Amino acid sequence: MKLVVPTEVFSGENRVSITPDCVTSLIKMGFKVFIQENAGLQASYTNEDYQKHGAKISSKLSDLYNKADLVIKIQRPTKLKKINEHNFLKNCNILTLLYEQKFKKEFDLLKKLKINVFALEKMPRISRAQSMDVLSSQSNLSGYKAVIDAASQFNKAFPLMMTSAGTVAPAKVLVIGAGVAGLQAIATAKRLGAVVSSFDVRTSTKEQVESLGAKFIQVEGEDSGETAAGYAKEMSKTYKKQQNQLLAESIKKMDIVITTALIPGKPAPKLISKKMLESMKVGSIIVDLASEFGGNCELTKHGEIVNFKSKKIIGPQNLASTVAQDSSRLFSKNVINFLMNSCDSGKFKSFNWDDELVKDTCVIKNYVFE
Ligand code: NAI
Repeated sequence: MKLVVPTEVFSGENRVSITPDCVTSLIKMGFKVFIQENAGLQASYTNEDYQKHGAKISSKLSDLYNKADLVIKIQRPTKLKKINEHNFLKNCNILTLLYEQKFKKEFDLLKKLKINVFALEKMPRISRAQSMDVLSSQSNLSGYKAVIDAASQFNKAFPLMMTSAGTVAPAKVLVIGAGVAGLQAIATAKRLGAVVSSFDVRTSTKEQVESLGAKFIQVEGEDSGETAAGYAKEMSKTYKKQQNQLLAESIKKMDIVITTALIPGKPAPKLISKKMLESMKVGSIIVDLASEFGGNCELTKHGEIVNFKSKKIIGPQNLASTVAQDSSRLFSKNVINFLMNSCDSGKFKSFNWDDELVKDTCVIKNYVFE
C-alpha cells in the first residue's frame, strides 16, 4: 500500500503532514512511504532524515502520486500557480484539513473525483479520539505562539523585576476563551511571569483556569454556557450585556489581550468594541486568534497588524505554521493514531468503516477501498 506526502503548496504553510519519526510506524503498518523531495525542509526535516527511517523520495509529482493509495496533506488540495493537485488524485484516499463550508468550490471539485476524502477537522471531540485530534494539537501550539508574538511586539517586560534601578511591574494579560488555545496561552503567559486573568462563557473552564494560576472572570448566573457536546453556546442578550460591562472594566487595566473565543458553525463573537479599544492603555497589544473566523475584536484584520491610537491589534494567519517543526510532528502523530485505529493486528488493510471516527471524518466516499 502506497502512502504519499506532498509538499504543501499554500504560501506561508511551512508544515509537513508526516514527519520522519513516524515513517517507521507507517512501514510497520504495511505502508510504502513516498515523500516529495524537500517536503519537510520548511519544518526542518531533510530528505536524508526521511530516508534514514525508510521512506523514498520522489522528485517528480507524477511519480509521487502514481498508484497512491493514501495521500496525507495538511491544507486542502488546490490549484495554485502551475500545480493543480486535483489532477493527481485518482482511486485513492486523502486525509487533510478541509473546512468544506468555507472552501465550498474546492470541495465541490473534490466531490467529482473518484476518491475518498477524510476531513480531519471533523474528528469527534471524544476521549478515545483525543490523540487523533489535529484541531487540539495545532491550537495548543497557536496559543503558545500568540503569547510569544505578543511579547515580541510589547515594549515592556513580562515578569516582575526588582532591580537596583527600580521595579518593573509584571505585565497584565487577559485571555478570552479558555479552550485548548486559551489554556496554553494562559500557561505560557504565566511562565513568562505575567499576571493572568481569563474569561469564558463555559463555567466549567473556571477550575482549569484557576489550576493554571490565573484569575477567572465570571458573569454570575445559572447558565453553564455549554451545549450537550461541550462547546460554547450563543448566550442570551442579558448575558451579553453583562459580559460586555465586565470586559469593558477589565480591559482598561490590561497590557495584553489574547482572544480565542469561537462558537462552532457561527462567526466569532465580537467581544472587543472600538470603544473598549479607546479605553485601553497606550502600548497595549491584542492578539486575535479568532481572526480567521471574523475576529473577536471590531478592528481585527486577518493577516495584518492594525495600529489604533498606539495600540496594536494582531490578526495572525496560521500561527501553527510558525512553529512548524513541532506542529508537524504532532499533526503527523495524530494521523498515525487515526490509521492505527483501523489496523488489525498492527497491520493496515482498509479503514474500519463501522467506526464512528472513520464515518464522521469521511466526507466524500466515491471510491471502493477494501
Ligand atoms: P473553541 O476553539 O471552539 O472555542 C474557544 C473557547 O472560546 C471555548 O472555550 C469557548 O467556550 C470560548 N467562547 C466561546 N464564545 C465565547 C464568548 N462569547 N466569550 C468568551 N469565551 C467564549 O474551543 P476548543 O478549544 O476547540 O474546545 C471546545 C471544547 O471541546 C471544550 O469543551 C474542550 O474541552 C473540548 N475538547 C475535547 C476534546 C476531546 O475530548 N477529544 C479535544 C479538544 C477539546
